[in-house]
Amino acid sequence: MDAKRKVSIIGTGSYVPEKVLTNQDLEHIVETSDEWIYSRTGMRERHIAADDQAASDLGAEAAKKALEDAGVTADQIDLIIVATLSPDMFFPSTACFVQEKIGAKNAFCFDLGAACSGFLYALDNAKNQIAAGAINTALVIGSEKMSTFVDWEDRGTCILFGDGAGAAVLQAGAEGRGLMNAVMGSDGSLADLLWTPGGGSRNPISHEMIDEKQHYLKMQGREVFKHAVKRMGDTVVQALEKNEISVDDVNCFIPHQANVRIIDAISRRLGVADRMYSNVEKYANTSSAALAIALDEAVKDGTISKGDLVVLTVFGGGFTWGANVLEWGK
Ligand code: UT7
Repeated sequence: MDAKRKVSIIGTGSYVPEKVLTNQDLEHIVETSDEWIYSRTGMRERHIAADDQAASDLGAEAAKKALEDAGVTADQIDLIIVATLSPDMFFPSTACFVQEKIGAKNAFCFDLGAACSGFLYALDNAKNQIAAGAINTALVIGSEKMSTFVDWEDRGTCILFGDGAGAAVLQAGAEGRGLMNAVMGSDGSLADLLWTPGGGSRNPISHEMIDEKQHYLKMQGREVFKHAVKRMGDTVVQALEKNEISVDDVNCFIPHQANVRIIDAISRRLGVADRMYSNVEKYANTSSAALAIALDEAVKDGTISKGDLVVLTVFGGGFTWGANVLEWGK
């Protein structure tokens, strides 16, 4: 097979659970206000999964829609990657549970841990496997049930997150340029600014650990904000240079949906406010699902159409970050 096949996204799908939690609802849970949340984050509401819905249930729903959109059957999938920081359990992987739910019996499956950056990392991983000729068809999912991992007594974090999933089907044979070269980076020295410190091998489950609430997500918001703006801005510039594309030629920018003020700061820096996509108002931060849901919505609402150049960019715990460029081929 050709060592460098072009690869494109041939279908997308997304799913958010039925239950909506508004800023007004949050006023009854922690000391906050709609005014504070909206002015500081741009968020109005988020979706919350039911007790019996885990990350694989959300992911499977998004996957079914993406497969239908792509016109691909589940048995044609060679690889499933689920990007998540809220897996069904430590093991087996959430991807294996999705495989079972959608009947993708010919796929090999694994989860990818890059926090909020996971979907972009997974897209690039799957793309490279297809480009190298190792596989033909991949299903990439970002799925999160963040509501289980936030401390509902911590107003600094619980208001920020929501549940949901997005998926994309990738295949060889792009019309146009398809998925181009990604730029990704990480900085483990800053891990403690955004992490869930308890529950793993470093700080195992114990009554004491749970009493100290170490099993919940912790974030130093202001610090994370600064790094997110700088890293996403820098990485978009690097990805455009790497692919020899001018910022003026890009039709749509889709950033990680963590805070509209982060998105606005990147827009101002790049001078692209008119082409920046955001749906953070409706879903809040769904971590690795955020980019996947936004991409699906941008396609379905007609923001992105055939031949458009699209830039994706992410930032998350680790720290991790990245950007990619693609030419939409459908
Ligand atoms: O997905 C991974 C990436 N994550 C992010 O990118 C998130 C990045 N960070 C942020 O988006 C923002 O830092 C936040 C939205 C988390 C916070 O906004 P901020 O403007 O940085 O506020 P702050 O944390 O500096 O807090 C300002 C004030 C504090 O009160 P004092 O100390 O000034 O009296 C907080 O206690 O706002 C208070 N506060 C709240 N007030 C009402 C914090 N949370 C709330 C709340 N409601 N929910």
